[in-house]
Amino acid sequence: MLPRPMTIARIDQPTRKVKALTLHGRLPAQPGQFVMVWMPGLNEKPFSLVDDDPVTLAVASVGPFSARLHELEVGDRLWLRGPFGHGFDIVGEYALLVGGGYGVAPLAFLASRTIGARRKVAVIGAATGDELFFEHRLAGAGCEVVLVTEDCSAGEGGVCTDVAERLLQDETFDVVYGCGPEGMLETLEQLCSELGIPGQLSKEAYMRCAMGICGSCERDGLLICRDGPVFPVGPGT
Ligand SMILES: Cc1cc2nc3c(=O)[nH]c(=O)nc-3n(C[C@H](O)[C@H](O)[C@H](O)COP(=O)(O)OP(=O)(O)OC[C@H]3O[C@@H](n4cnc5c(N)ncnc54)[C@H](O)[C@@H]3O)c2cc1C
Ligand code: FES
Repeated sequence: MLPRPMTIARIDQPTRKVKALTLHGRLPAQPGQFVMVWMPGLNEKPFSLVDDDPVTLAVASVGPFSARLHELEVGDRLWLRGPFGHGFDIVGEYALLVGGGYGVAPLAFLASRTIGARRKVAVIGAATGDELFFEHRLAGAGCEVVLVTEDCSAGEGGVCTDVAERLLQDETFDVVYGCGPEGMLETLEQLCSELGIPGQLSKEAYMRCAMGICGSCERDGLLICRDGPVFPVGPGT
């Protein structure tokens, strides 16, 4: 699959480190799927879709590639392959969404689809209040949004898995959707197993081909690009 050029239509900057790039055009996808973004002469890296129509990405500036994406302006082009992978399956009427860092990106896309028909709660966490983003996007998609910060500067103090654990113990949820740092996903997986609630977690790995060929994303015998990035956890897995 050849990379397809797409032009930036709009740039928003919800936090100091994160930019949301809205591109001209659509790329029909399932929430949780990702695209490979290619910058000629630099590299090609995976990014979750925040939306597929118009294509929208959330980029956290953490290194050379993401910093280069932050330098782009409206009208500039980038090249996309995809969408790739297995996204979130839409199940149940009571949904809990848990996102840390830029893990909020695919959850915002998921929330915009018909999930949690009776109730959807999104718990989003960051180290500080000024690093939280997309809370309005999630609320606009019908989520009850719970903010969590490690330094207590916004919402509840602590980490988002503490709040998720409390909600899962006190209330009824059919499914947990999660995306974020590895430690957060490990805790969520453990909670889903202990409490017997099905979960779907989006995992990360270093990717090159994104098509199940090169093996660079292999973890425990699974290819994250092809078998994931979203994996089921909890009862029966
Ligand atoms: C399936 C999948 C979906 C992804 N979706 C997104 C997305 O929606 N938005 C996004 O911004 N990135 C996403 N990524 C990560 C992205 O592909 C790049 O790895 C990221 O942009 C860093 O690349 P870089 O070359 O700028 O920095 P690198 O040189 O790769 O990293 C620089 C340093 O930052 C650390 N680092 C890398 N990522 C993070 C992070 N998120 N937070 C804190 N430290 C970090 C690295 O360990 C390293 O020490 C996704 C990755 C995968 C596998
Ligand atoms: S990135 Fe090549 S097999 Fe997954």
